[in-house]
Amino acid sequence: MPRAQAEPLAREIFTLKKQLNAVILAHNYQVPEIQDVADYVGDSLGLSQQAAQTKAEVIVFCGVHFMAETAKILNPNKIVVLPDKDAGCSLEESCPADQLAKLQATNPNFWTIAYINCSAAVKALSDVIVTSGNAEKIVRAAPRDKDLLFVPDENLGAWVIEQTGRPMTLWKGNCYAHVEFRRDQVLRLRAQFPDAKIVVHPESLREVRDLADAVCSTEKMILYCKDSPAQRFVIVTESGIIHRMQKECPGKEFLCAPVFDVMQMPTDNCRCSECKFMKMNTLEKVRDCMKRLAPRLELPADIIRRARLPIERMLEISAQPIENAG
Ligand code: 13P
Ligand code: SF4
Repeated sequence: MPRAQAEPLAREIFTLKKQLNAVILAHNYQVPEIQDVADYVGDSLGLSQQAAQTKAEVIVFCGVHFMAETAKILNPNKIVVLPDKDAGCSLEESCPADQLAKLQATNPNFWTIAYINCSAAVKALSDVIVTSGNAEKIVRAAPRDKDLLFVPDENLGAWVIEQTGRPMTLWKGNCYAHVEFRRDQVLRLRAQFPDAKIVVHPESLREVRDLADAVCSTEKMILYCKDSPAQRFVIVTESGIIHRMQKECPGKEFLCAPVFDVMQMPTDNCRCSECKFMKMNTLEKVRDCMKRLAPRLELPADIIRRARLPIERMLEISAQPIENAG
């Protein structure tokens, strides 16, 4: 969005924020102008931690629906609004709660580990929640006598199996955006920029993860690029993250992995991947949801009560030093 258009909207948002005693939380994939008005920008883990500790009365959640739901579960008495209630997630869609319950019924010894990219109803059926930032640590801490069931991302699940050696039954879900990245594209970029480090999100396919210098959550990607002496990086995830990388790593160069179709043509003009759900949010919609206090997140009390437990378990294990968690 052009600066001249963003600035007056940003001023309105700051005024509303004070009036409402609101906090604006934004995911790393949000458009730059939303990131720039947020109090906190981060990955799903950081956002859950912020939601768990905020003193604000209103939470404006700029991400996708399941993230705002998580904030509501942690703050049942607060108002949680989101810019667009239809901002979903293909992973969430892939795992309906009734189908999960059916699978769980086949093995009473299942210990259900749910990636945070799922509905509140699925969280309510789970033993513990993970994000891409803590999945490995939490799986290492899972009870040894249980059969682990990991839902809904088969790619993140497979990566965690590779890291921990713990066998798990994997739900067959995936992120429609991350599975578009292919080995050939990354190999081509690597040949073109041999000095670049390749940084991949674990929702990607194994053929792509295997080429990576680092596989990690969006927040850890930013840390990796800051800490690395390298000057150039191929970033294999949603393009929104480049904004923070450019801001926090001045002078370094970030190449967004392109997505090609079967004819080897880039599928979009910017040659980078975009999550259509994350990009449903706009600065206007942020202003509007604060003005109207709608769309507002509401959940049944019973779901909140049951879903809160596995989220709190995740936050607790995440906060432990590695040696106590494993
Ligand atoms: P992070 O938790 O790594 O930010 O990932 C969230 C997500 O939806 C990735 O597609
Ligand atoms: Fe869901 Fe994929 Fe979008 Fe992340 S990038 S919110 S996993 S659809």
